[in-house]
Amino acid sequence: MTGFASRAARAAFIAGLPKAELHLHIEGSLEPEMMFALAKRNGISLAFDSVDAIRAAYDFAKLQDFLDIYYQGMAVLLTEQDFFDLTSAYLNRAAADGVRHVEIFFDPQGHTARGVPMANVVGGIARALAEAQERGITSRLIMCFLRHLSEAAAETTLDEALPYLSLIHGVGLDSSEVGHPPAKFARVFARARSLGLKIVAHAGEEGPPDYVWQALDVLQVDRIDHGNRALEDDALVQRIVSDGLTLTVCPLSNLKLCVVNDLAGHPLRRMLQAGLKATVNSDDPAYFGGYVNANFVAVADALDLTRDEIIMLARNSFIGSFLPLAEQAAHLGAIDSFAATY
Ligand code: HPA
Ligand code: ZN
Repeated sequence: MTGFASRAARAAFIAGLPKAELHLHIEGSLEPEMMFALAKRNGISLAFDSVDAIRAAYDFAKLQDFLDIYYQGMAVLLTEQDFFDLTSAYLNRAAADGVRHVEIFFDPQGHTARGVPMANVVGGIARALAEAQERGITSRLIMCFLRHLSEAAAETTLDEALPYLSLIHGVGLDSSEVGHPPAKFARVFARARSLGLKIVAHAGEEGPPDYVWQALDVLQVDRIDHGNRALEDDALVQRIVSDGLTLTVCPLSNLKLCVVNDLAGHPLRRMLQAGLKATVNSDDPAYFGGYVNANFVAVADALDLTRDEIIMLARNSFIGSFLPLAEQAAHLGAIDSFAATY
């Protein structure tokens, strides 16, 4: 156990370490208890009759199994207050995990398709983020396009978001990866870039290395979400390293969605050793069994991560964020101060 007397000591170090979370779908933070409460508040009936029955259904063999249940779950979200409550609950959990900065994804098409106005979605999330800022947690909001839908649908969504661009920092690409390559969305991402938005995309979670190349060359991403399968292509790894791009890696998600067979085989250490700026994130914590610290602890235990590796992961989370450099530097200083006392 390099650098720690015990697993408990390593977990305590992780818990106290300042960190940013860069890969979090706000709808994926909807815990079954809140799903029930919102269903009741909104007069919606659920396909499950108890919290335990919901949790029992969270048994996935692949990404699509999860997505089917994720889109079903988010149907309880209707009002601005619903989105505020959802986001506040996540921010409280994140604060308890030592998260100082969050970059949150949301899936507007999962809501507008059900007749929920964009104003309710962005308004509720942004109100909770503004309140968290008062408590010292900074944030960025990233609007994702659902890749199983058409590029025309993404264009419409970008049009609908135009009144809210002061609240939205970037655009991303999520949902069913295989069969929906990044290049399908070349034009809408080019428009988003011309509007000054940051660009990220899920790539190489289930999809091949070629999808990661497309994210780089066609979408011109500022960051890659997941990126696990990039490791299958040495030239691609070299390209990501030389571009200095961050990967937002999600260990418990990878385990639950069978991207890895077990955490002992997780590529996180290999990514760091290859010079990739990997980070640790929770993706959809209500569905995958843990928030950011649980992800850190699980992967640290499985790979026996060292103190230096854990510090590197926390540093990468700020370096890979969309915060201005001066704010990144302040957070890196806080990591150094924390590590020095430990
Ligand atoms: N992958 C793709 N789409 C998603 C995910 C994910 O892990 N979570 C929510 N939407
Ligand atoms: Zn994701």
